[in-house]
Amino acid sequence: MGRRFIVGGNWKMNGDKKSIEEILGFLRQGPLDESVEIIVGVPAIYLDYVNQKLPGNVVAAAQNCYKVPKGAFTGEISPAMILDIGVKWVIIGHSERRNVFGETDELIAEKCAHALESGLSIIACIGEKLEEREAGRTTDVVFAQTKAIADKITDWSRVVLAYEPVWAIGTGKTATPQQAQEVHQQLRSWLSTNVSPQVAEQTRIMYGGSVTGANCKELAQEADIDGFLVGGASLKPEFVNIVNARVC
Ligand code: PGA
Repeated sequence: MGRRFIVGGNWKMNGDKKSIEEILGFLRQGPLDESVEIIVGVPAIYLDYVNQKLPGNVVAAAQNCYKVPKGAFTGEISPAMILDIGVKWVIIGHSERRNVFGETDELIAEKCAHALESGLSIIACIGEKLEEREAGRTTDVVFAQTKAIADKITDWSRVVLAYEPVWAIGTGKTATPQQAQEVHQQLRSWLSTNVSPQVAEQTRIMYGGSVTGANCKELAQEADIDGFLVGGASLKPEFVNIVNARVC
């Protein structure tokens, strides 16, 4: 069976009730390609609210979670809480979590493992910084990030990987389709060797980093790009065009 195309919006720390109404408006209006799995990563404080208002073909995701079910961890939310409000997805290890909040490969792997054990599906993010790419270390970095996660999980059926080169996030400098495809293909072959050929074949790898309505179609044609994780453009009506990148 082919890999179902998946498009996620990552709202980051954006939105208020007024602008969220506008986003819900263009999501409801669509039209959204029915063959695409569509997810929006919502700030925790609006997660329950948005989850109740989304059209049926779009589901909500948390943008982060902690690695245990409950306890004295002020400011954190757990997978159990996310599931309790009816949300089934979480984004883990986004480059802003890694680079602004200092999350390590180890912590991210623990969060992935706990989220999966709790029953959530995860979008696990990986990606190299500009200086790492320029030093020819792209695969070293993304393989090490993926290995940290792979070492702690056993069931890949609810895992989606998001390759997001840090230099492309929020910069307007998207990776070329060839640059993205090269890393996606290398990641898939890493999964084949280090996890299993079946996991490599079935695991979806999204691309993220300055995806827009203008560049999504070309990226979507690459064989190993199975979808997108979209930041800035997910707040705008062009998100609909990104969802529909493989049609029209
Ligand atoms: P961007 O963000 O689309 O604004 O570059 C992508 C992301 O951070 O997931």
